[in-house]
Amino acid sequence: MPALSFVTTQIPIQAAISTYASRVLTTASPLDKVRLTRAAVKSWETSRTPGPTVTPPDRPSRPVLPKIIPPSEMPSVKRSNVPSNVYYLHSLAHVELNAIDLCFDTMLRFESVLPAKDRDEWFEDWLSIASDEARHFKYLHDRLLALGSFYGELPAHDIIWKSADVSKDSLRERLALGQLVAEARGLDAGPKLAERLIGSGDNDSAATVRQIADEEVRHVQLGVKWFLKECERVMTDPIRTFHDIALRLSNPGAFAQPFNEQRRRQAGLTPEWYMPVAEEMERQRKERTKSQSTAHELRS
Ligand SMILES: [Fe+2]
Ligand SMILES: [Fe+2]
Repeated sequence: MPALSFVTTQIPIQAAISTYASRVLTTASPLDKVRLTRAAVKSWETSRTPGPTVTPPDRPSRPVLPKIIPPSEMPSVKRSNVPSNVYYLHSLAHVELNAIDLCFDTMLRFESVLPAKDRDEWFEDWLSIASDEARHFKYLHDRLLALGSFYGELPAHDIIWKSADVSKDSLRERLALGQLVAEARGLDAGPKLAERLIGSGDNDSAATVRQIADEEVRHVQLGVKWFLKECERVMTDPIRTFHDIALRLSNPGAFAQPFNEQRRRQAGLTPEWYMPVAEEMERQRKERTKSQSTAHELRS
């Protein structure tokens, strides 16, 4: 068991939120990120102090394990040497840990572009999402331990932070890629994962994943809210802007059908947001396949 995950950092009491946010990002231990997030929520409840503007680090600190490897080298469920429920919970735990860091990075990185009147609401919303993500990570961390595993037993990839890096200079791109693409994909994947866990006989994990999936709807809702506000501020059409960003910067896998239309609708994402992107990506995929087979025919 990697002792590094359990190193306890000093938790500042009653600090400003930007101080907590910066500490979360510069702390490697996942459980300390959870503790710092809880302390930030408590501090906000009593003092509501956003604090000074802080520039977040380029990358958040992370524990030594899990080992980060290229996505193409990630072992499949069958080759992972762990039961399928552990495999799925481990990959979801990694998503949740990234989500904690992403909340605090977004909170700090973009607060200065917002009008002053929105500042408190901005901190409150991101803190409430971070609080959920920290709780989600802790559920999964504990569930992995109960199953005889631990977070870090398997390798993980760095796809989430790559898309955070791509969107580090634009609030619209960050909200689009983080909340409207990646978190919205979670709305499609969560209920399916719960069913898979039931199929593997792990009803307790399925209940945990179902609760997480229910809570993710609000994260997408808040992403849509801030995306609309930001598009209004810069006077641009939100849906067209989203299409442009998604087609330029997102992975086609994030728009593979089917979508969970009901959950997406609940979160404020009606099909006019995502279907044109899915259709255009599919058209481009067919075009590529066609030109590849033409090139192959010409060569042979
Ligand atoms: Fe989550
Ligand atoms: Fe989330």
